[in-house]
Amino acid sequence: MIWAETIKWCGDYAKLIDQRKLPHEEVYLDIRTAEDMYAAIKNMTIRGAPAIGVAAGYGIALAALNSKNKKSLEEKIALIESTRPTAHNLFYAVNRMRKLVEKDTVDASAFVAEAIKIHEEDKRLSDLLGENGSKLIKDNSLYMTICNAGALATGGIGTALAVFYKAKEEGKDITVFVPETRPILQGARLTTWELKKNGIKSVLIVDSAISHILKTENVSGIFTGADRIARNGDTANKIGTYSLSLSAKENSVPFYVVAPSTTFDLTLKGGKDIPIEERSKEEVTEFMGLPTAPIDIAVKNPAFDVTPHKLISGIVTEKGIIYPPFEANMGVIQC
Ligand code: MRU
Repeated sequence: MIWAETIKWCGDYAKLIDQRKLPHEEVYLDIRTAEDMYAAIKNMTIRGAPAIGVAAGYGIALAALNSKNKKSLEEKIALIESTRPTAHNLFYAVNRMRKLVEKDTVDASAFVAEAIKIHEEDKRLSDLLGENGSKLIKDNSLYMTICNAGALATGGIGTALAVFYKAKEEGKDITVFVPETRPILQGARLTTWELKKNGIKSVLIVDSAISHILKTENVSGIFTGADRIARNGDTANKIGTYSLSLSAKENSVPFYVVAPSTTFDLTLKGGKDIPIEERSKEEVTEFMGLPTAPIDIAVKNPAFDVTPHKLISGIVTEKGIIYPPFEANMGVIQC
């Protein structure tokens, strides 16, 4: 049920829906060079960990199409790799593409084929996440998510939102509470728009209403995406997810993470080793170019936080649902 593709490959260039303009304008941008793709990932024209991985693959394919030698290709790969430090899917895709840099001459067609393969695989992973996660969804029930973990954030139908899409396909009637997700408003701008397009009822709330809603409404579960999952199950996701998980625990609401194996970083023992991206102060002191705080104020703007594994009820993967103790049950993930 994909209504608009986040990223399309057009033979020798890519098209991206410009997520900065949503929900009011549906505009596609042509991405013709690795530098274009670098800028698009960095400025969040495209975002969401799996989509960043797919975009990185195509960015490197573009680098291969435009590079005359291995040195220039390697420089462009390093540029793409420097975009978003928390999203593990970026490093997963870059590592796969980098394996093709072996000979002195660059075989661009091999890079294009690998990038398309990463994209196709991500589509399939989304479907499986949805199928596995929808088993946790009850008919006539309320759910909550955070940020945007839907079709816009992946090469397919999403991660957390894929669960809702599959549940709807199975005939379940659900309503999803969507926190705005400051400062970039992925919830307000992207998730409500996506759910509406796909016929799923959503209710937009301000981030600071989360605990009140969990206390006063009969929410059956929370489903979030992930940017990186460590070996013990600690999960980095959009800033605010940790607070959401604490409130879920306090209010006895099950808290599920939905992520493909490409988001797992089993080299990391726990969440304290996950690098957390810091973004610009202007994201906090301005909104759409208008000042909302004194311009000279000190700002800290972490884009992600880490939810400790003890607050997570289960992790939905393409291979099934992993329940605690996560470290002991991680065996199904081989990335
Ligand atoms: O900063 P963003 O918009 O890239 O952050 C996105 C998220 O935190 C998502 O929840 C995560 O990447 C999973 S998307 C399927």
